[in-house]
Amino acid sequence: MPELSVVIVATDNEQRAVMQVLVDGTSVARTVHTCASFPVAASDPVTRRVRTANPDVTLVDIPADNPQLALRAIELLHQEMPDGAIFAIGNLNQPQVIVNAMRAGAREFIERPTNTTDLLEAFVRLTTAQRRGKQEGIRGKVFSVINAKGGNGATTVAVNLALALQSAYGQTALVDLAPLGHAALHMNLKPVFNVADATRNLHRMDASLLESFMTRHSGGLQLLAGTNVPAAVDPSTAEFVRLFDMLVTHYRYVVVDASSRFDAASRLIASLSETVLLVACSDVASLWSAARVQQYLGETGSRERVRLVLNRFRKVPGFSEADAEAAVGAKVLWRIPNQYFAISGAIDRGTPVMDQRTSEIARCFAGLAQELTRNDAEVKRAAWSLFKSV
Ligand SMILES: Nc1ncnc2c1ncn2[C@@H]1O[C@H](COP(=O)(O)OP(=O)(O)OP(=O)(O)O)[C@@H](O)[C@H]1O
Ligand SMILES: [Mg+2]
Repeated sequence: MPELSVVIVATDNEQRAVMQVLVDGTSVARTVHTCASFPVAASDPVTRRVRTANPDVTLVDIPADNPQLALRAIELLHQEMPDGAIFAIGNLNQPQVIVNAMRAGAREFIERPTNTTDLLEAFVRLTTAQRRGKQEGIRGKVFSVINAKGGNGATTVAVNLALALQSAYGQTALVDLAPLGHAALHMNLKPVFNVADATRNLHRMDASLLESFMTRHSGGLQLLAGTNVPAAVDPSTAEFVRLFDMLVTHYRYVVVDASSRFDAASRLIASLSETVLLVACSDVASLWSAARVQQYLGETGSRERVRLVLNRFRKVPGFSEADAEAAVGAKVLWRIPNQYFAISGAIDRGTPVMDQRTSEIARCFAGLAQELTRNDAEVKRAAWSLFKSV
């Protein structure tokens, strides 16, 4: 493994010194420069010095009592050096800081106090990802599906949306994070591993290990199966963020079935998602619940990402789509018709409706997949090149 050059940015003198000793102790990386203040602008001398050092990795220490300047520094350094990696070092008890650091551009969040093992593992992951990235270079999108109320159809939507994305664009994964995973049953799959195995092995995760935890559906969709023991999977924020970071470097689209999971994990997944599909029916209890879920996700900053999917949709006299939007506080993205026999039969047989290509309901899910990917340049390019090759 080639030696990585590292810059350390930490305002606390002791922390800075400790980090330097730890980095140099990994023997795969070497500190080339340290900074005692956070850069605040591109023209800042600190930014200039880091840029000149041009490190493979910049370690940014986030003080627990005042994270803002450190988060701004991560964003700035990421903009200035898009090819360099940033590792944030901070407190694991602050989920919002972790999410903000990852959104600002950090690729790892390492617990403080740090140790040589955690740093070494992060350095190895970086080198492996860089090697792989040179071959693949994807950064996928996450779409999460959550119920307004138990049984509203999140799993049906997640499974069929994932199959539609796989069939149109390939390279799609479905991650089952429901409190009790049903996605494998919907697809008649018998997973050997599940999401708990993946999070337990994150420290040694690479492309082939991730693949070995997935269960392949006949059309190519890869399922990271859910737990078969109620509520057994409760990984830490950093583990979740890392798992999704792994997934989006391997798959173009990652669909998450959160079903009726209303906890810190579902909020975190919402904040990592491009769009959150809130599945509701048009009855009063479901719309009332949808408004509560929307508010719950909104408290952690995901309000703008939430879209309503009206399931078992049928026109009700005197009740319009605008009424549903006003009641919930989110725009309607899609409507799925009420087709009990087709859908419940498909679940019982383990052959999703998306596999019955010509049906109205399959076309409906294909349309949803198209709507969600409408603005994707990569997809447009893929469609264009497919078009050209015919
Ligand atoms: N569009 C639809 N029309 C008619 N019935 C539907 C529709 N979508 C789902 N259903 C029915 O609703 C039931 C629940 O579906 P599904 O398992 O997808 O829901 P869920 O919301 O994920 O459930 P849970 O809360 O247990 O996770 C199923 O029996 C299915 O047949
Ligand atoms: Mg479900």
